[in-house]
Amino acid sequence: MLEGEILALPTETVYGLAALALNERAVEKIFSAKRRPANDPLIVHVSDAASARAVCRPCERAFALAEAFWPGPLTLVLPKEPCVPDSVTSGLDTVAVRSPSHPVFREILHRVNAPLAAPSANPFGKVSPTTARHVVESFGENHPPVLDGGKTEHGVESTILDLSGRVPRVLRPGPIPPSEVERVLGERPSLSGRREVSAGEPAASPGLLSSHYRTEAPLLLFPSLSELLEQARRNPPPPGSHLLPGEPPDASERLPPELVVLPLSSTGSTREIAKNLFAVLRQADAASPPLILSHLVAETGLGRAVNDRLRRAARTS
Ligand code: TXA
Ligand code: MG
Repeated sequence: MLEGEILALPTETVYGLAALALNERAVEKIFSAKRRPANDPLIVHVSDAASARAVCRPCERAFALAEAFWPGPLTLVLPKEPCVPDSVTSGLDTVAVRSPSHPVFREILHRVNAPLAAPSANPFGKVSPTTARHVVESFGENHPPVLDGGKTEHGVESTILDLSGRVPRVLRPGPIPPSEVERVLGERPSLSGRREVSAGEPAASPGLLSSHYRTEAPLLLFPSLSELLEQARRNPPPPGSHLLPGEPPDASERLPPELVVLPLSSTGSTREIAKNLFAVLRQADAASPPLILSHLVAETGLGRAVNDRLRRAARTS
């Protein structure tokens, strides 16, 4: 099954575009379908820690973290085994590995009985898909085949933790917060790993492009919901602008009626905001509004991942 082909699959974070990780021709199809630059390496998905050994050399920390969080939304960057093609790792001597928990992805892993490379199933630089429909919409006519597993659970991509150096480093914030990593390792991971690179630049810490998740309409970010609402009231943005508050604003807010309000959650819970974030960004963008306005959330737990994605969508990071 799968052979040299690509297939879009649900994971618990976002939909992935999967191909056999050790088959160079199949991996090439991922890069060309996504128009992804070769300096942005892929995550390799495995069933469990034992099968991860086929592609990487796990350390003690990796085993402890895999035991605690796999299957689940934690990607570990580890020294790679020579069998992993350079195209998967962009020529690095490390490989990013994770074990997804979504039953559909796990079933496919079980059937192919081999590691699967899978980036998010969207054209490069665009908002990640959290439903099968998003995959179809974002690739258009020539979309890859998609297995529909419903809306994804977390809504933001996995936490990426680099274990190849002396200190563990969070390269991308995600559903597993640094405090959870610290609980298992007994040491706090460094958060300084996020180094922005530009498309085309040969990257030492690749893939962390600042303009990612781009919306077509400009996205303006405010430090908080109250500042967003105050601004919208006092100095109304152009008619048709979309407001994306973390929760439905109070009726007493009396916002200008020509603004479209699309709350990111019904309760203000960061989990719900994360889960809906990409879908609401897409929905707002599809209306081609003159402006999209949103705001940062508290920088704790999943909030760090939400803010990271918002900042990159707004090109302010
Ligand atoms: O939740 C997820 O991680 C989703 C699902 C499909 O599993 N996948 C995902 O893949 O977000 P992608 O390709 O959109 O992001 C993977 C990122 C790359 O952009 C790169 O920053 C990082 O992983 N990465 C991959 N290999 C790496 C390596 N050897 N060293 C450092 N970063 C690496
Ligand atoms: Mg991606």
